[in-house]
Amino acid sequence: MTVRVPGKVNLHLGIGPRRRDGYHDVASVYQAVSIQDEVAAAAGPGLSVTTSGPEAAAVPAGAANLAARAAVALARHTGVAPDAHLSISKRIPVAGGMAGGSADAAAALVACDALWGTHLDRPQLHALAAGLGSDVPFALHGGTALGVGRGELLSPVLARGTCHWVLAFAAQGMSTPAVYAELDRQRTGTGAGMSDPAPVLAALRAGDPAALGRALTNDLQRAALRLRPGLRRVLDAGLDLGALGAVVSGSGPTCALLVRSEPEAVRVAAALAGLDVCSRVRRATGPVPGARVVPGGEG
Ligand code: C5P
Repeated sequence: MTVRVPGKVNLHLGIGPRRRDGYHDVASVYQAVSIQDEVAAAAGPGLSVTTSGPEAAAVPAGAANLAARAAVALARHTGVAPDAHLSISKRIPVAGGMAGGSADAAAALVACDALWGTHLDRPQLHALAAGLGSDVPFALHGGTALGVGRGELLSPVLARGTCHWVLAFAAQGMSTPAVYAELDRQRTGTGAGMSDPAPVLAALRAGDPAALGRALTNDLQRAALRLRPGLRRVLDAGLDLGALGAVVSGSGPTCALLVRSEPEAVRVAAALAGLDVCSRVRRATGPVPGARVVPGGEG
């Protein structure tokens, strides 16, 4: 049973003050993009996880892996034995701000649900996903969606057309809690609040890539740049090369450059790769669907 699952970029990430539970209320416009992991689930005995791909060594092993925790949560919820071997083929950058760990958890839920024949409905899968992490429900959902609460309360967004992205990956990941903590420090005493997703939503509705490029917003970006000043060079280089907009994705360090077309993506990606401002450059399109069994991967 093999499930393909997308990474995300945040077209808008508005962040409110820190809540009593330590999380922050967000208004996040997520888009699922064509940088995808695959999670294959095979019969046990027991629960084990292996990872392949260029960054496999950076992925937590065993019970610390969010995909393993997803399998355990599903087994507990349905009363089956957590017997599965999960093989993760990793393409989404690790600790990259593209919700790769969350994606693997969503894929593991879908794969184990099919392997074990537990057949949960979407709301039940969604509830389990929300218990695993703020971005896990979106990885199930895919497409383009607005997430509020911690990010887990989703509604679909009307988005016309395809977005073309050039994604700049960094060699070293960043810690999401550390970036949120830096934001809290920066905001202390300023009264700064959550920025409004309306301009991004309007640009998506209109299918206007230039307006979308101008509207891309991330309230975590200043904190991510403080912790990783070199990301400024990536964003500036993208804009100098003619990108319509450039933004840090989530808590970083991946930078997302919106461009007008596929040929533009080829040109900007090649030029950016030659500048030595980031570790790897990939092209992607969005939106793409959420976690789905790969056709022919049911066995
Ligand atoms: O939900 P998840 O486990 O992915 O969140 C990781 C960390 O990111 C949290 O521990 C918290 O520090 C931060 N976070 C937050 N507010 C959110 C989502 C995440 O503060 N809405």
